[in-house]
Formats: sequence, C-alpha cells, structure tokens
Amino acid sequence: MRLSRYDDVAPSKDQRSAFSCGEPSLDRWLTTQARQSMRSRDAVTYLLLDEESEVSRIAGYFCLSAGEVRREDAPSGVARRAPEAIPVVRMGRFAIDEAYQGKGWGAEMLREALLSAVSGGRLIGARALLVDAVSEQAIHFYKRFGFIESPIRREQLFYALRVVELSAGLFAPR
Ligand SMILES: CC(C)(COP(=O)(O)OP(=O)(O)OC[C@H]1O[C@@H](n2cnc3c(N)ncnc32)[C@H](O)[C@@H]1OP(=O)(O)O)[C@@H](O)C(=O)NCCC(=O)NCCS
Repeated sequence: MRLSRYDDVAPSKDQRSAFSCGEPSLDRWLTTQARQSMRSRDAVTYLLLDEESEVSRIAGYFCLSAGEVRREDAPSGVARRAPEAIPVVRMGRFAIDEAYQGKGWGAEMLREALLSAVSGGRLIGARALLVDAVSEQAIHFYKRFGFIESPIRREQLFYALRVVELSAGLFAPR
C-alpha cells in the first residue's frame, strides 16, 4: 500500500468509480469533486493505493483543508487559552473501500492523516484535527482512537495536534 497525493496519481475515471465504501456520498465525492477541489486549492485529497492489485486500486482516501472553529464549539482540551476563532486542520472525508475494511487500513490511514495534520499545523498553525463524522458508526470509529466530541455538535470530533506531537516524540514538553 502507498499513500499519495491525488494529483501525483491522477486516477482514471475507472479507478475512481470502482471505489465503494458503503457510504454513497463519500464514493460520489471521490468521483465527481476530488479533482476539482485539488485544482481550486479547497482541499487536498490523499489516496491509499493498493499496488499489488492488477490495476492499482484505490483502497481508501481522505481529504484535508484549512479551517477554524469557534472556541465554544471545541472541547476543553483544545479550547483552553485559545483565541475566539481556533485554527484547525479539517478532515472533510475519510473512507476505506469495503474490500479493504476490517483489516487495519482505516487505523493506518488515520495515523497518516494525523501526521499530515501535524505537518500542516507546523507550517501554518493549527491546534487540532477536526473531523465531520458522516454517521453514528463513524463517530464510534473516531472515538475509538481518542477523538473528542464537540460539546455542541456531536458529529464534530477533535484530536489535539499537541497530543500527536507528544506521542510521536516530535515535541518535548516543558
Ligand atoms: C470507518 C472506516 C473508515 C473503518 O475502516 P476499517 O479499515 O474498516 O477500520 P480498521 O480495520 O482499521 O479498524 C481499526 C479499529 O477500529 C475499529 N472500528 C472499525 N470500524 C468501527 C466503527 N464503526 N466503530 C467502532 N470501531 C470501529 C475496529 O474494530 C478496529 O479495532 P481493533 O483495532 O480493536 O480491532 C470504514 O469502515 C469506512 O470507510 N466506512 C464508511 C465511510 C465512513 O464511515 N467514513 C468515516 C467517517 S467520514
């Protein structure tokens, strides 16, 4: 498996429309919106590619963009001593193809997404990775990995980037 930026792969229409994660809105977005969002710089999509399949197949994808949230929308661990508008990296979409689900690829891709968010946050400043969960199941998935719900919007979950840096040994606490 290899994780690549969408524009480095330029996947064909067949590759994109073969993707099926069980959530039609996420399948559709990859087919119809991902390329345009890259071009307009609204979001960067990353593809998890199975290079062992005959035609390299899209096993998963996620997309990141810059965002901000109001302090009252963030959990206390993120909101403490924060400005009124908190800068975040937003993960708008995250999905694994059904043929690859239940094999640990979701966990692996989430780790990559968190590390990418840390890199972005080091360049431009961001306190947390924010996800918008598409379903109750997705909320459980993110909580399983330590994401914390917004006190106001249950479907918005946060992971403090400082915590990622601490656990990855990228940041020495004082
Ligand atoms: C949610 C999704 C990304 C999980 O991907 P996956 O590759 O099947 O997950 P993994 O195999 O890496 O599972 C990792 C861990 O999460 C757990 N997990 C998986 N789906 C879960 C869920 N819905 N709720 C709670 N835990 C879940 C697994 O049991 C596993 O735990 P373990 O390490 O204790 O065994 C995938 O099912 C998917 O794309 N679903 C449709 C789209 C979607 O809901 N996207 C996310 C929100 S935008």
